[in-house]
Amino acid sequence: MTKKEKEKMRLDIITCLPELFEGPMNQSIVKRSVTKGHVEIHIHNLRDYSTNKHKNVDDAPYGGGAGMVLTIEPIDMCVSKLKEERAYDEVIFLTPDGETLNQNMSNGLSISKNLILLCGHYKGIDQRVRDHLITKEISIGDYVLSGGELAAMVLADALIRLIPGVLNDETSALSDSFQDNLLAPPVYSRPAEYKGLKIPDVLISGHEANIEKWRHEEAVKRTEERRPDLLSD
Ligand code: ADE
Repeated sequence: MTKKEKEKMRLDIITCLPELFEGPMNQSIVKRSVTKGHVEIHIHNLRDYSTNKHKNVDDAPYGGGAGMVLTIEPIDMCVSKLKEERAYDEVIFLTPDGETLNQNMSNGLSISKNLILLCGHYKGIDQRVRDHLITKEISIGDYVLSGGELAAMVLADALIRLIPGVLNDETSALSDSFQDNLLAPPVYSRPAEYKGLKIPDVLISGHEANIEKWRHEEAVKRTEERRPDLLSD
């Protein structure tokens, strides 16, 4: 097995809105990572697994109540088919009541080989899916989106950029905000002075150790000001 094959990640995304993925998954770093063979992204339309003639994937909740619920059958059919083809590290359901995504979780998941991401929709999803098919539930924050699709894209992006070789400069993912529980320090580019606004002298000193020290101090300062909670973790 070549190094490249070993590190390749496969994402199977199950959704009833496959069109939503066309733009975001075909741009920039995600697109390049697919082209360069670091990741395969397969989008599965849940409706293709519906057994009724209207291709419905939802139904009214037992016991009454507003809204429709995604039914278990098409999800089970799709997940079972995928699992017959290969083993999965996790079957993830994107949901606002899941564990909140953070950099630590992304780092852990980025070494996965095969992941299924299931996007919820409508009012909810049959609890038997969550109890028996899902191995991990992830939220991207304390707010409710209309569906799990945007959350799945956020998760996919966060994981893909961590795959070795995806970013040109491999160190740049390591210097991201939240790695080491610190926000990233400020960065500057040319010109060194713009309309009287100067960049810090240390950055043009050429003294690498001083520059590293300055960056670390700025990262700590920024974290203390904006996210003191990160320093007490
Ligand atoms: N689906 C709806 N809202 C969501 C959220 N905040 N995170 C993940 N999936 C969701």
